[in-house]
Amino acid sequence: MTVDVGAERATTAQPAQPAQPLLSASSMSAGYGGVPVVRDMDLEVRAGEVVALLGANGAGKTTTLLALAGVLPISGGEVAWLGRTSRAPLHLRARAGLGFVPESRAVIPSLTTMENLRLGRGDPEAALELLPELKPLLKRRAGLLSGGEQQILTLARVLAAQPRLLLADEMSLGLAPMIVQRLLSAVRDAANSGIGVLIVEQQVRNVLAVADRAYVLRRGKIELEGKAAELAGRLEEIEATYLTGAAAIEEQADG
Ligand SMILES: Nc1ncnc2c1ncn2[C@@H]1O[C@H](COP(=O)(O)OP(=O)(O)OP(=O)(O)O)[C@@H](O)[C@H]1O
Ligand SMILES: [Mg+2]
Repeated sequence: MTVDVGAERATTAQPAQPAQPLLSASSMSAGYGGVPVVRDMDLEVRAGEVVALLGANGAGKTTTLLALAGVLPISGGEVAWLGRTSRAPLHLRARAGLGFVPESRAVIPSLTTMENLRLGRGDPEAALELLPELKPLLKRRAGLLSGGEQQILTLARVLAAQPRLLLADEMSLGLAPMIVQRLLSAVRDAANSGIGVLIVEQQVRNVLAVADRAYVLRRGKIELEGKAAELAGRLEEIEATYLTGAAAIEEQADG
């Protein structure tokens, strides 16, 4: 059953503008085996914005993305996609424009770069405009690409499907700083072209430099949210309070 929350909003005289979030969660809880890992989360992502999801290891960032993507069933609250609450699994949402970039490189090694791009069933040219460094590699088998090139291809493949929303989980894990900057700047360009982005990234300073807003998770709850520029200005405090594994472990011992 789908509940049309958009209809309710339409009755209040609001101007026709992209004010409605692409994706929103209200009081969302999700976890594993009946044990909630993320609780009571309110968040939203709009077209054209990059939103960073920050938190220490184990805070629940991946769990949040999986729940938003419909990979993991939610145990409480609601997720609305394009204004409608949705419990559809990821492959159905992908058709409606949700792209997911996983942490692990998701290329098919035996296929060429171009063949991998075509798997997105969209427009490889659009993705190649955003990531032109793949052009000389189109005929090479993806298994022969470097780790960084494979992750660029993973992002390009998802973008080639022309998603409306991109969920990206630690794309940059284990990659050289230059590649990370490259991935983040491509994500920013994608948002500037109208895609909404929710991105998990360990390199907090770098991701805040391209993000519009951020949410900070601690032990499964959103503890802080704000404009990326403001959070970047308080980065030391935020890292000490919310993002260092040590602080999280100490607190667990306390609590
Ligand atoms: N499949 C699973 N079954 C049971 N518990 C899980 C599962 N996956 C994750 N967890 C637990 O849920 C909590 C949050 O994990 P999650 O992967 O969402 O954190 P994260 O913020 O993405 O961490 P990291 O920065 O290390 O990737 C952790 O305590 C983790 O052990
Ligand atoms: Mg994770």
